Amino acid sequence: KRIAVVMGGPSAEREVSLNTGGAILAALREKGYDTVAVDLEPKRFIEQLREAGAQVVFNAVHGKYGEDGLLQGALELLGLPYTGSGVQASANAMDKGISKRLFLQAGISTPASRLYSAVRAKTTPLAGEIIAAFGLPVVVKPASQGSSIGVTIVEAEEALAAALDTAFRYDDHVLIEKFIKGRELTVAILGTDNPQALPVIEIVPRSGRYDYTSKYTKGATEYLCPASLDETAAKAVQAEALAAFALLGCRGIGRVDVMMDADGTPYVLEVNTIPGMTATSLVPKAAAAAGISFPDLCEQILLMAQ
Ligand code: DAL
Ligand code: MG
Repeated sequence: KRIAVVMGGPSAEREVSLNTGGAILAALREKGYDTVAVDLEPKRFIEQLREAGAQVVFNAVHGKYGEDGLLQGALELLGLPYTGSGVQASANAMDKGISKRLFLQAGISTPASRLYSAVRAKTTPLAGEIIAAFGLPVVVKPASQGSSIGVTIVEAEEALAAALDTAFRYDDHVLIEKFIKGRELTVAILGTDNPQALPVIEIVPRSGRYDYTSKYTKGATEYLCPASLDETAAKAVQAEALAAFALLGCRGIGRVDVMMDADGTPYVLEVNTIPGMTATSLVPKAAAAAGISFPDLCEQILLMAQ
């Protein structure tokens, strides 16, 4: 079968996606698969798939179009199998406002938050209300973005307005989240019928902030895999991550980002349904710690396409 590795596209994470897609393409070629790279042009997508002779799609598009259910919807209409989560799960996971509401409903711990629309922000000053609700520091995020783009950790009241402006540049909904001081962890999940958590990774950015630069600059972040947690704590983090993945209806592959506070309570931040597969990315490191090579990981994800 011919596999189209779809990557790129017009989102703010285009460059990251091209790196993810390039790595997957090379891995599948190494395994002997018939692959073709497709740089997503939303209006020409169906034509692009026809030109490529695609029979299966390996989705490597981060963010808008690829990770929010749109590409999945188009592929459902065409009847083409694709890797990863389906329409509803992708839409649930991409929108942090929705996913956090679902976590709360299921008793999955997640930092306290509020969701604001651009309309509300224009008509009502929000700063006082945000500080009264959460104190400082507080995290300001576009509701549907990846790779920390548009995210600010606000430490001083004067910086809040600019942080809101930045986040609203990327989205018409912005999530304000209580800042959890503690350890930054992530859990990759692999599987559809019987999803399994891979070893927990602890992320230690040299700058102290795991922002876009720390994510994609070689050597900017130290990764501990497995994280130095005792077995009970590691199992608890994995269980919470698995619960979040399953709750949103995800399948195939995902990565659940978690903060652990000083008391050892894990808080789920989000589920990434098209996790990065670049040279500095996390899922390939977790797979390696579980004894799964990168080409084997890509093949497993491919074989779960539906
Ligand atoms: N959004 C980036 C690609 C990630 O979650 O890895
Ligand atoms: Mg994300």
